[in-house]
Amino acid sequence: MSGVLTVRGGVPLKGRVQVRGAKNLVPKAMVAALLGNEPSVLRNVPEIKDVEVVTSLLQLHGVTVVKDPQTGDLTMDPANAKTASSAEINTHAGDSRIPILLCGPLIHSIGHAFIPDLGGCKIGDRPIDYHLDVLRKFGAVVDKEAGGIRISAPGGLKGTKIHLPYPSVGATEQVLLSATRADGITELTGAATEPEIVDLIAVLQKMGAIISVQTDRTIRIEGVRELGGYVHTALPDRNEAASWACAALVTRGDIYVQGACQRDMMTFVNTFRKIGGGMDINDDGIRFYHPGGDLKPLVLETDVHPGFMTDWQQPLVVALTQAGGVSIVHETVYENRFGFTDALVRMGAGIQLHRECLGSVPCRFGQRNFTHSAVISGPTPLKGTHIDVPDLRGGFSHMIAALAAEGTSTVTGIDVISRGYERFTSKLDGLGADFDIAKHKVMV
Ligand code: EPU
Repeated sequence: MSGVLTVRGGVPLKGRVQVRGAKNLVPKAMVAALLGNEPSVLRNVPEIKDVEVVTSLLQLHGVTVVKDPQTGDLTMDPANAKTASSAEINTHAGDSRIPILLCGPLIHSIGHAFIPDLGGCKIGDRPIDYHLDVLRKFGAVVDKEAGGIRISAPGGLKGTKIHLPYPSVGATEQVLLSATRADGITELTGAATEPEIVDLIAVLQKMGAIISVQTDRTIRIEGVRELGGYVHTALPDRNEAASWACAALVTRGDIYVQGACQRDMMTFVNTFRKIGGGMDINDDGIRFYHPGGDLKPLVLETDVHPGFMTDWQQPLVVALTQAGGVSIVHETVYENRFGFTDALVRMGAGIQLHRECLGSVPCRFGQRNFTHSAVISGPTPLKGTHIDVPDLRGGFSHMIAALAAEGTSTVTGIDVISRGYERFTSKLDGLGADFDIAKHKVMV
């Protein structure tokens, strides 16, 4: 079964939504609990699919995971960590990308890891070569098996020097989760420094890890033999916050995003201001609103932090369809993150995709046949249509386009959106959106 939304567009979204812990931190902090020799407590945990997947994977490996029914806080106790059967692990094949991050912690706690084939959004090839290279540098042996990979480290993991060819978020986390209990010092250059990574470092430091971050993308980790537990409140989800901000712009609405944190969203805030969005920034959240009149076009490229985050790109493109003039967006993180624009074009948007790097700096996808630049001409009225959700951020973007459009849209496959947006249909309801939700049988 999969959900279908029937959306009657044209109603400005108004009201308040709360964002809780970041999807791109919480599951990783849960994985870190496996490195400790005592229980850990994680607060501000959202109800999203990746949390369910990691809960199940931890439980399969003998970790007790208890959820406080009142607060949703998770207590994870790794005291009885054990080997899990590959068949059981395999039931999570294709669910998420997080399992690859279990490698280091499982090797430290039980000596080996079996990782199922990964899932996640189809926004490019999303290889795991950096992860495997990193693990091999630590001394791990990687064997391909049916349905996944097995990783072992007969001599334990040893600290090493690693340089990442690109500041990959996941590969940086792989290094952190493997190095903290490795024997000796690890020096990582070319690291990603997203706020979610800094928060993961805070988690590990609470557990007893010794990690320093330099301003030149170098992270130095002094391995320690043992780690304890942690008590940590996850940083709020800046990607969800930015998505609701764009929803306010696209529908000419006014949304107070409780939990939106200015410090983690500086680049988004600058961009939102440049295209003419209205904001009131407070300590506990940010009010994002459409101030009336036309939005302004923009030239922008996505980048690793502190640049404009790729996960903000898709909802922002919907807002740019309503700006008066020509905008250019150059996607430099993923080679294939503009597939969602097909549906926007069917709704009436003026968007052309190009293979060339249309930003100020050529990126690694130039001359390689990837349509990774978009030229958006606006403003164009949007009309309701049928949409099948392609991926998490693309799906949210389609939904806000449908909410802004004239007429009725049907949106299928909305379960994908629940992977990263906690209770999004209740939030939409609270914002005054006009929609119905039905369960729909998928033919397979
Ligand atoms: N890459 C490789 N080889 C690797 C790993 C990455 O070539 O082994 C490439 C990727 O193909 C991509 C680039 O490096 O072109 C960046 O990928 P990265 O490793 O940084 O991404 P990730 O860790 O897989 C996380 C988030 C993504 C977010 C990116 C970039 C999680 C679970 N996912 O993915 O979030 O877009 O970092 O910030 O943390 C989303 O939330 O919708 C989402 C896709």
